[in-house]
Amino acid sequence: MAAAEGPDSLRARSEGGLGGASRTPHVDVDAIAREAREAVAAASTAAALEAVRVKYLGRQGALTQLLRSLGTLSAEERPLVGAAANEAKRELEALLDQRLAVAQDAERTRARAAARPDLTLPGRRPPLGIVHPLKRVEDEIIEVFAGLGFSVVEGPEIETDYNNFEALNFPKDHPARDMQDTFFVPGELLLRTHTSPVQIRTMQAQRPPVRVIVPGRVYRRDIADASHSPVFHQVEGLAVDRDISMGDLKGTLELFARELFGPRSKIRFRPSFFPFTEPSAEVDVLCFLCVGDGCRLCKQSGWLEILGSGMVHPNVLRNVGYDPEEVTGWAFGMGVERIAMLRYGVDDLRLFFDNDLRFLRQFA
Ligand code: FA5
Ligand code: MG
Repeated sequence: MAAAEGPDSLRARSEGGLGGASRTPHVDVDAIAREAREAVAAASTAAALEAVRVKYLGRQGALTQLLRSLGTLSAEERPLVGAAANEAKRELEALLDQRLAVAQDAERTRARAAARPDLTLPGRRPPLGIVHPLKRVEDEIIEVFAGLGFSVVEGPEIETDYNNFEALNFPKDHPARDMQDTFFVPGELLLRTHTSPVQIRTMQAQRPPVRVIVPGRVYRRDIADASHSPVFHQVEGLAVDRDISMGDLKGTLELFARELFGPRSKIRFRPSFFPFTEPSAEVDVLCFLCVGDGCRLCKQSGWLEILGSGMVHPNVLRNVGYDPEEVTGWAFGMGVERIAMLRYGVDDLRLFFDNDLRFLRQFA
């Protein structure tokens, strides 16, 4: 029976010319299957394997065409060739699936390797910021006073008239209370014009002895020039205790100047006036630009004013409930920009606010 004869006898018969001279489909099956296996073996990428699949199993593929042409075979050949072609198709599909899995795996591994960071490459340095020179000077000032036992406190930039002026013994008609000099905020508030209101807040909150240092931003309607800005920074100092004297103040500020400007720095105390201190003194440092000759920076005086100071006025002590017969104190308020200018030889304070990186990088 033909069905029992198997492919070999089928081939022998076909090669012998039976079944029609033009058609040897069973030979085609074997030949196509071999050719397809070789093509699969030669394909190493998913794309190449897909090309092989299209070539043999696609709509125009060799095996597909063969299966479509089964109808032209004799009833005897059809089941044999059909079975062989279907078997070849299944085998090829299985082989392609398996090779595709391997190829895809290899491609994924390659992609991962390509994406993996090369640990031998030199690192990329992230740009590092620096502490702003004003902050740095503020830190240095605080450090000097922290070393003397002062603690740091802060207060709000929006203040009441009471804390900024009234409690500090400013008379009602003092020019600083004028619209020309102070930024007022709706609701009877103002932008503090100095850090001195924190003296009031501190003394209201604690009993003597007091030793505080107060860094902060302050605001004035000053025209900007080489040594003035409408927004600037102060550091306030306040010491209240029994038997505190003007001599303590002088000694403390001289020590401060030596620490910040070096042992050969020159400072001078100049009698002055503040409503909240009596007596009062301003402290100047020799101008670094002209070294005393007079220039545009020091307004021809040869000196740069860095702070105001004095003995806390008895009225101020009374305003916070301290007894001026029992305790005395001194206070100062220094300009951070001015000190930074002297410290670094910067001849225009506006440079600190421009945020030009070429300027700021010099402080790295
Ligand atoms: C005061 O502000 C007083 N509160 C200081 C004080 C405190 C005296 C405690 C007594 C007791 P004055 O207005 O002089 O004082 O300012 C103090 C310092 O701030 C000045 O010496 C100067 O260094 C700085 N300064 C003042 N105005 C400006 C400005 N527009 N720009 C930059 N710095 C300024
Ligand atoms: Mg002054």
